[in-house]
Amino acid sequence: MKNNLSNIKKSKYYLDKNECIAIPTETVYGLAANAYSDTATAKVFKLKKRPKKNPLIVHYNSLKMLKQDCEINDLFNKLYKKFCPGPLTFVLKLKKNSKISKNVTNGKKTLAVRFPKKKITKKLLKKLDYPLAAPSANISSKISPVSKKDVIDEFGKKIKFILDGGNSEIGLESTIVSLINKPEILRLGGTEIIKIKKILRFNIKYSSKKKNSFPGQQRVHYSPGIPIRLNAKKAKKDEAFILIKKRKFSDKNFFYLSKNKNLKYAAKNLYKTLRMIKKKKFNSIAIEKIPNKGFGEAINDRLLRASKF
Ligand code: TXA
Ligand code: MG
Repeated sequence: MKNNLSNIKKSKYYLDKNECIAIPTETVYGLAANAYSDTATAKVFKLKKRPKKNPLIVHYNSLKMLKQDCEINDLFNKLYKKFCPGPLTFVLKLKKNSKISKNVTNGKKTLAVRFPKKKITKKLLKKLDYPLAAPSANISSKISPVSKKDVIDEFGKKIKFILDGGNSEIGLESTIVSLINKPEILRLGGTEIIKIKKILRFNIKYSSKKKNSFPGQQRVHYSPGIPIRLNAKKAKKDEAFILIKKRKFSDKNFFYLSKNKNLKYAAKNLYKTLRMIKKKKFNSIAIEKIPNKGFGEAINDRLLRASKF
């Protein structure tokens, strides 16, 4: 507890000085910087090797602060009430007088915002008088980090400080919902679409093939850097084999996301497992078919992109 407090203070110290640090969230770790500062946000793009045209998600802890930057509406209020804090990101209209750095939005008039649930990160946000721009704390197009160790794996000593919040409970990025025109899902993630539909009481769609959409839409993304074979029934010799249900005969090449087809649990283990397989120096990965429902949809979306190696 005492340790947490001093780490929160340290985080604030670096952030106030326009440095970027890594912060834990319940989805994945983020590479965070003062969203109002051009200097700080420029460092995020540089460290991540992120294309400047790919805008950042901004993290808030208070509605009051959000309202200074964005226009909100009834649909936002409904979803906010049910899902925040939690793994849901909203794309909203940016206010003309908002202080958000142009780097964050790439000059666009919309802003992606989210209210993270991790306690230590909420405490940090409370102490700041600016929100935090934070993309996932990985080098662009690589696997997202779900622990402090993963962040070190990505950046080594290149970042000033990592606020340790243990493992990310969800293990997969937030779902993104755009409320700009007709509401639509821009990225599958930690909040299931079916739950969003229930609150909105109308059908809301996700299309991965949409032109001009950018959330994680690069063809190659979440890549462990080795070939991945989807819907595999068997593994080839020397291939790592990822499974979601127990097999009678286990092999040392088997990696279980879940032993009983629990898709939420499988989602939580996905990035961790891909990173582990890469470290064990396998040259390729086979993965058995994942049912395309609930969290399985988000897992399949990530695997498809990861396999475009
Ligand atoms: O769970 C998460 O969302 C994590 C944690 C750290 O909060 N963050 C995260 O950020 O996944 P990032 O940058 O890796 O992915 C954010 C995605 C990007 O693909 C970006 O294109 C999209 O959000 N995005 C950002 N601003 C947007 C906007 N105004 N309109 C549409 N998409 C936007
Ligand atoms: Mg990312």
